[in-house]
Amino acid sequence: MYRLQEASGLRILLIEDSKPEALYIERTLTQAGPNVYRVKKAYSIAQAAALLQAHEFDVGLLDLGLPDSIGFSGLNTIINLAPKLPVVILTGMNDPEIEITALERGAQDYLLKDMASISALSRAMRNAIQRKHIENMKSEFVSVVSHELRTPLTSIHGALGLIEGRLHEGVPEQVMRLINIAYKNSERLIALVNDIVDIEKIDAGRMYFDMRNEPLSDLIRQAVETNQAYADKFNVQITAGPVRKNMVVAVDGSRLIQVLSNFLSNAAKYAEPGQEILLRVEDHSGQARVSVRDFGAGIKPEFHPHLFTKFSQADSAITRSKGGAGLGLYICKQIIEHMGGDVGFSSELGKGSTFWFDLPLVKADSKADDVSEDDQRRVAS
Ligand SMILES: Nc1ncnc2c1ncn2[C@@H]1O[C@H](COP(=O)(O)OP(=O)(O)OP(=O)(O)O)[C@@H](O)[C@H]1O
Ligand SMILES: [Mg+2]
Repeated sequence: MYRLQEASGLRILLIEDSKPEALYIERTLTQAGPNVYRVKKAYSIAQAAALLQAHEFDVGLLDLGLPDSIGFSGLNTIINLAPKLPVVILTGMNDPEIEITALERGAQDYLLKDMASISALSRAMRNAIQRKHIENMKSEFVSVVSHELRTPLTSIHGALGLIEGRLHEGVPEQVMRLINIAYKNSERLIALVNDIVDIEKIDAGRMYFDMRNEPLSDLIRQAVETNQAYADKFNVQITAGPVRKNMVVAVDGSRLIQVLSNFLSNAAKYAEPGQEILLRVEDHSGQARVSVRDFGAGIKPEFHPHLFTKFSQADSAITRSKGGAGLGLYICKQIIEHMGGDVGFSSELGKGSTFWFDLPLVKADSKADDVSEDDQRRVAS
């Protein structure tokens, strides 16, 4: 755990591609006195990654414009490599938009290089360390509580399921109705706890991906089999289009099915009874595009920017009646991006919505189960 070190020797990783600027920051930091700050410099994300593997740091100072990272991808890499490291973003641009995005993407503070005096730098690093410490404690707490909740919930759900399925003889109808309600609610609670566990894993960089080369046709078939029973509850039919046998992607199969399950369950929830959901796989500029299309209510434009963010639901009243916590799409985006892909959607009010993800296709000549070095790296990140 990174703690606030009042005494000397705060270990700083300074990631800045401009040597004069790096030197300037380093010199400024020495004004605090000898050995108050111990700085190691990296001129690229790759160098920073190597330093993070070899040394421990208390705080990172990260310039956003580095030669080997575009926008916030450098910040992502640093967070994945060192999820507990507090990060202060250094930038030359006074743009509140960047500031907000940096904080949303996991940095703890933000400092304009022009303002980087010794007192401003010290304050930003101290704030970042304190914030990260609180964040780490919070996520530890949520993780422990959600894991502790999962075990008793699973047994409650199992017991109610048994009464519902096999042990209901002689149980009055009214009691059975209550048991049925309790059973459904325990199911919802388990789904919610599972989502929270996933979010904690993602945010702490602890979601592991067992990447393998998988034919999309198998994954699509499994996703339909897994989700048709849920769609039946809404009287909606899932129809999958043909998938070429040679369409292979390097993914964690169960995570990919998790993504498809959320797309399909959303589509089922928001389609009209009797409608069809179309699951398609196409070659999209050399990538595999997997899309789930429904012909339901569609999504109002004001809500579009909130899709794929945490706890976002367009209409909480409708959603309450249909179940869900507004976490599914956020988790889907994180999973697909970790596997090297992209997500997106299009929607028209009253006509329906299409949610899709793109994943790089594995070249036909690579052997099955043979994961490239690039993919291995993704597993680690
Ligand atoms: N196909 C769709 N049609 C209409 N609205 C949708 C569709 N997919 C998602 N939405 C909207 O986006 C919101 C977020 O979806 P998301 O999957 O993240 O959460 P959820 O389904 O409500 O809950 P969870 O997936 O965590 O169980 C939904 O509550 C709904 O308002
Ligand atoms: Mg959902």
